[in-house]
Amino acid sequence: MPPKKRRILVTSALPYANGPIHIGHLVEYIQTDIWVRFLKMRYPERDGHKVHYVCADDTHGTPVMLRAEKEGVTPEALIQRMQVEHLRDFQGFHIEFDNYYSTHSAENRHFAEFIYASLRDKDLIDKRTIEQLYDPVKQMFLPDRFVKGECPKCGARDQYGDSCEACSSTYSPADLINPYSAVSGATPVKKQSEHYFFKLSDLRCVEFLREWTRRALQTEAANKLDEWFKIGLSDWDISRDAPYFGFEIPDAPGKYFYVWLDAPIGYMASFRDLCNKQGLDFDAYWKGKETELYHFIGKDILYFHALFWPAMLHFADFRAPNGIFTHGFLTVNGEKMSKSRGTFINAASYLEHGLNPEYLRYYYAAKLNGTMEDVDLSFDDFVARVNSDLVGKFVNIAARAAGFIQKQFGGALADCAGHIKIDERQVGDIGVLLESREFGKAIREIMAAADRVNKYVDDKRPWELAKDPAMKSELHQVCSVAINEFRRIAIFLKPVLPELARATESFLNTRPFQWSDALQLLPAGHRINDYKHLMTRVDPKKITALVEANQETLKPTAPPPHSQLRHALHQENIVETVNQTPAISIDDFGKVDLRVARIANAEHVDGADKLLKLTLDAGELGTRQVFAGIKSAYDPEQLKGRLTVMVANLAPRKMKFGVSEGMVLAASGKTPGIYLLTPDSGAEPGMRIK
Ligand code: MSP
Ligand code: ZN
Repeated sequence: MPPKKRRILVTSALPYANGPIHIGHLVEYIQTDIWVRFLKMRYPERDGHKVHYVCADDTHGTPVMLRAEKEGVTPEALIQRMQVEHLRDFQGFHIEFDNYYSTHSAENRHFAEFIYASLRDKDLIDKRTIEQLYDPVKQMFLPDRFVKGECPKCGARDQYGDSCEACSSTYSPADLINPYSAVSGATPVKKQSEHYFFKLSDLRCVEFLREWTRRALQTEAANKLDEWFKIGLSDWDISRDAPYFGFEIPDAPGKYFYVWLDAPIGYMASFRDLCNKQGLDFDAYWKGKETELYHFIGKDILYFHALFWPAMLHFADFRAPNGIFTHGFLTVNGEKMSKSRGTFINAASYLEHGLNPEYLRYYYAAKLNGTMEDVDLSFDDFVARVNSDLVGKFVNIAARAAGFIQKQFGGALADCAGHIKIDERQVGDIGVLLESREFGKAIREIMAAADRVNKYVDDKRPWELAKDPAMKSELHQVCSVAINEFRRIAIFLKPVLPELARATESFLNTRPFQWSDALQLLPAGHRINDYKHLMTRVDPKKITALVEANQETLKPTAPPPHSQLRHALHQENIVETVNQTPAISIDDFGKVDLRVARIANAEHVDGADKLLKLTLDAGELGTRQVFAGIKSAYDPEQLKGRLTVMVANLAPRKMKFGVSEGMVLAASGKTPGIYLLTPDSGAEPGMRIK
């Protein structure tokens, strides 16, 4: 039986057009690119296989619309510019798409309308009136992210409408205290509007999804889905009201498809565009069962890809994906990427600092596996690993052997057939690891092979053989073995290091490597070219410079739009209050002993409706008991462990509930709300504040 001819379509998630590509995104695009490059080597077209990798910019939605408005350009101009930037960044990291398109395209509109109509014809679309927050100044409904206010749980200010960054609780925007529109600063009002829903709770959807998830998801993802099934699937709101940058729903003027409806359809649109260019059969990939379809995504967008997307496809009579491959998030030095730590790094910035993109490809490959675990980039580990593996182990093999072959044997290799026993199992095993996305394990196997070759060279000591004319043929043999082994390792690494592989192909004077080439040796007499540096070490100074350049210093942040607005409205009041406070001398201020304190314990006080009892750890000053009038704004549990500021030399005061030995500092204004002060991280209990 002839081997099955595989036809495979692979995608990465479509990056949003409202921001640049950063090193977190690259986890995904590098992972997918390595996988696709491997498949293309392993299942080459010359054997009748076909592998396609498509992607596109995700262009629609409120953020793009508002950003374009702010920049004074059309959304079309903005998304066009972003697409150029994205493509430049991807190319910079050797991400090789077969097609890169846009969700703002005729093809995408066509498929979005078609899928919507199919769902509607199957009675899977519902209309319902819902109530949402509306910006009366800007005259638009506000997505959750565009409503800000005080967290209903902890009182932290300027939190988004869906979740609090201070206490990480989630809620709905209507629960925010003193909400304001992040667009205009206006206080939002509630307003009703008719929305379109995809009836995901319909039994047909639930039955289909329960069956599909069993075959297309990683275990962890399938478990997540089980949780969601237990909670029960809710219908999905797929429409947004004008003004919106997107596709208007054909039978509903003024209503637009929500960006997440047409985003995954962008996979189809991009492939359709590729079909137009290359004469491929679109239906074979989106309707036929003979082809394979895989999506790489991050864990944050699993819901969209494992529930909505397959159901949309299935009920519009398209095929559902064979696999959704979900990866975890990037952490840097063990923490979330952060602008203040300089670890929120754009792809372009990495390249501008003269760092080789293949360092990062290799590092991510070494850290990746087929699970949803987060991936940590530790800069020390990055430098050590790339230098030791790629330069110290891999490239070093060629550097040790090539000079002798060139100078003493005119560049021609000896016959190695009797000296290298090709382990077919090993080639197969590494292939299986790469295909199952166990890149880290594959890299370990490959580096173990490099270790063995280096040990062989160490044992044979070519530099000594070269001193003895009687050992010339032995020298030829040893160096030829090393070069042949180096070549085989380069073949294994080609999906990860395509540029290094290309340079190796030209150094070894061979055609582009295919996977099966690892089963063969270069023939006796084959001539190689002069060896030139294949890769230099990572310069740790460049990493330091990169982090410094991305570190956002503590520049004063602009006040939020609502307070600007308030200032404008209450200009006179502010001047008045400023003038009310008489000036004091620095000596006067110096009399107040302000200290950093840690709230070691916080509890309710029986019978007190405003007070909390705090036990403060003031470092060298010991612990203090303080009664603070902050009960209305804080839950004691949330205060425990938190740093704040205290007045340490306030005379103790006897109160109804006990003695208060100091005071904590908090802000309050005309509007309700109390805000405890917090020093920047790094401050220690007992430190003086002056
Ligand atoms: N536009 C949507 C995807 C639509 S797909 C039909 C989107 N865009 S994104 O730009 O925010 O993210 C693109 C991909 O990068 C997603 O798969 C996302 O999970 C991934 N990542 C974004 N930040 C990431 C990290 N910090 N770490 C790892 N992957 C991350 O979501
Ligand atoms: Zn909160």
